[in-house]
Amino acid sequence: MTPPATAPAANNLEAFFMPFTANRQFKKNPRLLARAKGVHYWTPEGRRVIDGTAGLWCVNAGHGREEIKAAIAQQLEEMDYAPSFQMGHPKSFELAARHAAMLPGDLDHAFYCNSGSEAVDSALKIALAYQRARGQGTRTRLIGRERGYHGVGFGGISVGGMVNNRKQWGTMLPGVDHLPHTHLPAKNAFARGLPEHGAELADELERIVALHDASTIAAVIVEPCAGSTGYLPPPKGYLQRLRQICDKHGILLIFDEVITGFGRLGAAFAAEYFNVIPDLMTVAKGISNATVPMGGVFVRKHVYDGLMNGPENVIELFHGYTYSAHPLACAAASAVLDIYKEEALFQRAAELSKYWEDGVHSLKGLPGVIDIRNLGLAAGIDMESRKDSVGARGYDTFVKAFELGLMVRQSADSIAMSPPLVIERNQIDEIVDLAGKAIKAAA
Ligand SMILES: Cc1ncc(COP(=O)(O)O)c(C=O)c1O
Repeated sequence: MTPPATAPAANNLEAFFMPFTANRQFKKNPRLLARAKGVHYWTPEGRRVIDGTAGLWCVNAGHGREEIKAAIAQQLEEMDYAPSFQMGHPKSFELAARHAAMLPGDLDHAFYCNSGSEAVDSALKIALAYQRARGQGTRTRLIGRERGYHGVGFGGISVGGMVNNRKQWGTMLPGVDHLPHTHLPAKNAFARGLPEHGAELADELERIVALHDASTIAAVIVEPCAGSTGYLPPPKGYLQRLRQICDKHGILLIFDEVITGFGRLGAAFAAEYFNVIPDLMTVAKGISNATVPMGGVFVRKHVYDGLMNGPENVIELFHGYTYSAHPLACAAASAVLDIYKEEALFQRAAELSKYWEDGVHSLKGLPGVIDIRNLGLAAGIDMESRKDSVGARGYDTFVKAFELGLMVRQSADSIAMSPPLVIERNQIDEIVDLAGKAIKAAA
């Protein structure tokens, strides 16, 4: 006799060990999302929530895009999977050529993986392999930055600079150092766009070089706009200065563009926006509009060429993932590039960014708001911490926003917002209005 089908226990949330979540707190008072379309989510009860964060900074073209669905379905019909180790499938080469064509400068090769974390660890490994291939094998040190977020792999948490992401994991990678962060509220609070002060913080790289010697340093990795401690656009001139110092000392510069890539700043990449070309760039999220997990490392010609040495039958980089350039991810990524182009979404983000800036800065003066920052279609709002309970106010704001129908991201007592690039002006008004109400309610 066939056993009866066991229906999932509808209200049993126990088994899922949730990532980056206070599991016990969440399971007592869950926030569930069941459906999404355009710039909205719906809860299982049918309550509409405006997506103020493009999921997790990833659904840049909005939810439920038919063109992407069709491309994935067609690819699934044609070929579900093919390996990319010593084999290939056409869509991976097509996609890399398309990415190369849209990248600034001579960033012209693409390595694919499945997430931002994998992209970061891949980039760090490519940087080390490149230094070794060019006869600079003593360059093993990696430099990150305080308050940086580079995913959760051991490489990423080692160069990352968020204490809670580091403290549980022992010594991590050896030979890592950190630049100071660039968050200077005493000088830059409520800056609109790029903050005026702090370019000189890039000179700290000179101090690090003086301490360790350039011959020990392989690469520096930074997010052009740091996203995970409340959105921190770089001070004016900072990235340019970092580029100059890296060039002077033969250090590779890696931009982690997992959140800035694919239009967030109103240009395809932050590298283009700032006109600073890194040697390597990590991407994920908007690369596939989050439909199929995908990440990538884009590298400049000299990095790729530097690794193409030795006999031709020797594998140049002993690194890759079973799902590198997964056919479904490639199909999705190609379809989303068509959308970005046809709907001129990066330009749209640029055009909306002033309206967005005015909207979010109108929240200045609300109780407890101590800083607001913005660039492109993203913003961070800092609130004063409650006495002896850092993070409580941020959490309450986030929960209240959700109850009111708005999704924001919370990090300690900051909230970040980064709506899909298809957002309309009246929807920006709604986001600002609800964020304001949530901030007041949590004051
Ligand atoms: C700058 C940056 N790098 C890396 C990552 C990690 O990406 P993933 O969560 O896809 O591993 C993130 C995720 O938010 C990010 O913001």
